[in-house]
Amino acid sequence: MQEHKTIYFRDYTPSPYIVETCTLEFIIEESSTRVENIMEIKRQDHNAKELRLDGELFDLELIWADDALLDETMYRLEENALYLPMDRDHVRIRVINRIYPDENTALEGLYRSGGIWCTQNEPEGFRRITYFIDRPDIMTRFTTKIIANKEKCPILLSNGNLRGTATLENGKHMALWEDPIPKPSYLFALVAGDLGSITDTYTTMSGKKVDLAIYCDKGNEDKCHHAMRSLKKSMEWDEYTYGREYDLEVYNIVAVDSFNMGAMENKGLNVFNSHYVLADEDSATDADFMGIESVIAHEYFHNWTGNRITCRNWFELTLKEGLTVFRDQTFSADMNSALTQRLDDVRALRERQFVEDAGPTAHPIKPDSYMEINNFYTATVYEKGAEVIRMMHTVLGGEKFRAAMDYYFAHFDGQAVGTEEFLESMQSQSPVDLSQFKRWYSQERTPTLTVSSEYRPDTAECVVTILQNIPKNTHHQEQLPYAMPFRMALLADDGSEYPLVSERVTLLHNDVLWIENGVSEILFKEIPTKPRLSLNRGFSAPIIVQCDELDFPFLMAHERDGFVRYEAVHQFGIETLETMMGGAEVNERYIESYGAILADSSIEEMFKSQILELPSM
Ligand code: SER
Ligand code: ZN
Repeated sequence: MQEHKTIYFRDYTPSPYIVETCTLEFIIEESSTRVENIMEIKRQDHNAKELRLDGELFDLELIWADDALLDETMYRLEENALYLPMDRDHVRIRVINRIYPDENTALEGLYRSGGIWCTQNEPEGFRRITYFIDRPDIMTRFTTKIIANKEKCPILLSNGNLRGTATLENGKHMALWEDPIPKPSYLFALVAGDLGSITDTYTTMSGKKVDLAIYCDKGNEDKCHHAMRSLKKSMEWDEYTYGREYDLEVYNIVAVDSFNMGAMENKGLNVFNSHYVLADEDSATDADFMGIESVIAHEYFHNWTGNRITCRNWFELTLKEGLTVFRDQTFSADMNSALTQRLDDVRALRERQFVEDAGPTAHPIKPDSYMEINNFYTATVYEKGAEVIRMMHTVLGGEKFRAAMDYYFAHFDGQAVGTEEFLESMQSQSPVDLSQFKRWYSQERTPTLTVSSEYRPDTAECVVTILQNIPKNTHHQEQLPYAMPFRMALLADDGSEYPLVSERVTLLHNDVLWIENGVSEILFKEIPTKPRLSLNRGFSAPIIVQCDELDFPFLMAHERDGFVRYEAVHQFGIETLETMMGGAEVNERYIESYGAILADSSIEEMFKSQILELPSM
């Protein structure tokens, strides 16, 4: 059993050596796989004298440094690393080792699932395949030759573009894959086996043709068409929305039954749990179809947010995951109903992330320490991370957000960076200073905003008081108030909005306030009648709102913001059920308001079905 020690963000230092190229050869046999790995390694830090290569759970057979075969006295072997004295600026390391995919039940590295050889290397699986500097800030050009029995493994896949195939003796064949784009080792993938497939092509915005394929168990080909359509829509959407074009000649997706993660964005060779690929009208629900569309999109979008610009270290996981979840959520909103997508996302956040954030395993979206990074693929890093990105989108507005993303791609393409670089890009276009906003990255738990109002009829003013209640963190330390965009409205009797006029608060757009203080007292002028409050429209910040003044029947009937309307139905429903549980008759106003929504033909059907659902347990 390996001992875990705590790793701290503050201890990060760049690697003293980098791997420029990695040329791999896999000979896949029934009982084991032979790996040959040739790495061109360059020294970055001229004081470095010892090269450390990660590697575990395989048999080392031979190792060379610049063509000299090394014996055991020339290196030091530990359980999970190999150390070589290395006092020069370049070295070519050649390793031959053997791995046992059949015995690999951790499903990390190369393993065999249902007769198919396949890999999962995020976050630290590559070190189970061969020696490497297995950390995401080492971006390397990989070339991969795969040799296997032709009958057993007619399909041989890896990252990049196919550069050649050949039939070999003894019933074997080989395929040579070359990935021209440097990538971290966690994005390396290999698949070998006997699989069915469907194919298609996509022409990118600059006119380059990309061959697309989806591989699955034979007999399931017909269930892949929805996934293929989803892939093409994703490719088109990323061009249209972000100007991002696909960069290789092929894009392959493989569906396998045993897969730890839902899916994995390996460069040019995504591996999916079959659940997120296979669907047809007979066996799948609407939700299944939408789930597939969003996961296919998620993995595709990683090509730019994750693969070309990757994470400097694993503390930065939300850099790629929060951002890519935000991208897949907005894609799904564009493909389907934006409103129901938002409700789904908020519900999922509250049901999973809010619960996580309130419990003993609460952590910031960017943790500052970990013992096992595998435990940080959480709702907080992913879903709350996406909300943090969404807040910046709200602050900047669509156009400026796109400009900030352009800045991000222009400055950091091909690099391993952190959330600081992302924030620098956002700041370049932001109307407000984002320094305090950064607390969303380092603090944990869900803040509560308590809102109250006081109307002054003689001066036609309304004072809205917003109190931030920030829970202590898991270490019982005080935490500081957040900066956030808070979308709200003051509604007149007919449901129309009074324009927000105030000198005491930064108004970002018509109805978005920039809240920065623990206590904000905002004086709104030119409000002729006592207004109704509509708060956190569109769920503009991932917070809990507490307010005793909300007029649920009014909001159910008049509010134009779908999210606030949904909240009103939901909260009024809870209130009604609770009083009924106390023995009271059903509240007639609830029945009336519910009926009014039921009868309102202007409400989108899908949204209507969601708001009319009774609150769950
Ligand atoms: N990186 C993978 C994904 O998010 C693992 O979950 O798609
Ligand atoms: Zn992801």
